[in-house]
Amino acid sequence: MTIAVRYYTRSGNTQKLAEAIAAAVGVQAAPVSAGLAEKADILFLGSSPYAFDVDDAVKAFLQKNRANIGTLYHFGTSASPSSTYKLVAKLAAENGVTIAPEQYHCYGSFLMLHRGRPNAADCAAAAEFARSIVNKT
Ligand SMILES: Cc1cc2nc3c(=O)[nH]c(=O)nc-3n(C[C@H](O)[C@H](O)[C@H](O)COP(=O)(O)O)c2cc1C
Repeated sequence: MTIAVRYYTRSGNTQKLAEAIAAAVGVQAAPVSAGLAEKADILFLGSSPYAFDVDDAVKAFLQKNRANIGTLYHFGTSASPSSTYKLVAKLAAENGVTIAPEQYHCYGSFLMLHRGRPNAADCAAAAEFARSIVNKT
């Protein structure tokens, strides 16, 4: 089973979760700009909202790499309680990509909000999320 971790970040919050997830499942995390050179049976994709949308880099990644994505597992951070899961699920559907119902989401620091998040506990929870997915698959 091939596992990959890709993420988009602007200030490092999503990257923190990506690295915790990657370490938990024994792979290297890479930005979405790296693409997917080979099929990933499980893709952990990290995305966070910017002005109620996902970045164009995430949209382009899904479009260009759709043939190499087995099942997509969403993770991400945000200032509000809502993740980008629904937005990514819509993009996944448009690209014929299967997205799992499970996701990992936590607060991410933004201006004066949620300082220090994701913190060590958030990263540990993200790692546990990833391990649970891999162990049941
Ligand atoms: C330009 C901009 C727009 C944002 N818009 C939203 C938003 O619409 N909803 C939200 O919950 N958080 C919003 N945020 C907060 C980010 O989603 C949050 O800080 C997230 O942790 C950023 O992750 P990153 O460091 O990986 O880029 C915004 C942040 C920036 C910089």
